[in-house]
Amino acid sequence: MNKKSKQIIIAIDGPSGAGKSTLSRRLADCLEYINIDTGAMYRCVALTALQQKIDPDNPEQLGDLARLIDIDFRRGAQGERVMLNGVDVTDTIRTPEVSLMTSRIAAVPSVREAMVEKQRAMGEGGGVVLEGRDIGSVVFPRADVKFFLIASAEERGRRRHAELAAKGIDVDLQQTIAEVEERDAADSQRTHSPLRRTEDAVLIDSDNLSIDEVLSKMMAVIEQRMAGDGPGGRESVN
Ligand code: DC
Repeated sequence: MNKKSKQIIIAIDGPSGAGKSTLSRRLADCLEYINIDTGAMYRCVALTALQQKIDPDNPEQLGDLARLIDIDFRRGAQGERVMLNGVDVTDTIRTPEVSLMTSRIAAVPSVREAMVEKQRAMGEGGGVVLEGRDIGSVVFPRADVKFFLIASAEERGRRRHAELAAKGIDVDLQQTIAEVEERDAADSQRTHSPLRRTEDAVLIDSDNLSIDEVLSKMMAVIEQRMAGDGPGGRESVN
């Protein structure tokens, strides 16, 4: 395939821990596309709100902040970096405090509207992989290829547990699984842009698959679509 032949928009949605970030990055590398981690964008809003001590229950202030901040993704020697108003916040946005604040502010309509506008501006020219919760449903409902990536709560909890253990952080596995289930419920049940699979999204269950196996399934779908003879996307790829 001539990777530069068509600059399409690829949407990846799904719950946290299903492997979206890794796969989105790997797909963007394979296709020489830009990778847009929309969760990182919501995290940037949360970090700024914390730094500026903005009340998370004040939608006007949060909306203003979300519109005004400058978010950029850069690739350097240290991999992909998230830049917030020119400052590298890649690690700062991953703290538990920021994660907690992010799930609160991500439910605020004025914040979502500002983020969706930025995401559309970043992606409308094509040549992008966007990952998040509402890409195929709200941000780019006409994306060329949509994936909905899932894995069981047990498997996602185990992955998270292993990630923390690798960092020397010892947490209870059952509690980690329960936290994954809690986040799923919050993401799926919120009123504004809840996590949901659109019927044209290709469903991939990564439970018993390696990253490379999922990647090759995704690439096969993309190549088919680029060739213009892909399926309607209504079926699962398993
Ligand atoms: O993918 P992540 O864990 O970095 O996402 C952080 C939070 O942002 C999580 O609570 C879900 C939310 N989010 C969202 O509501 N919409 C998106 N498009 C991306 C993330």
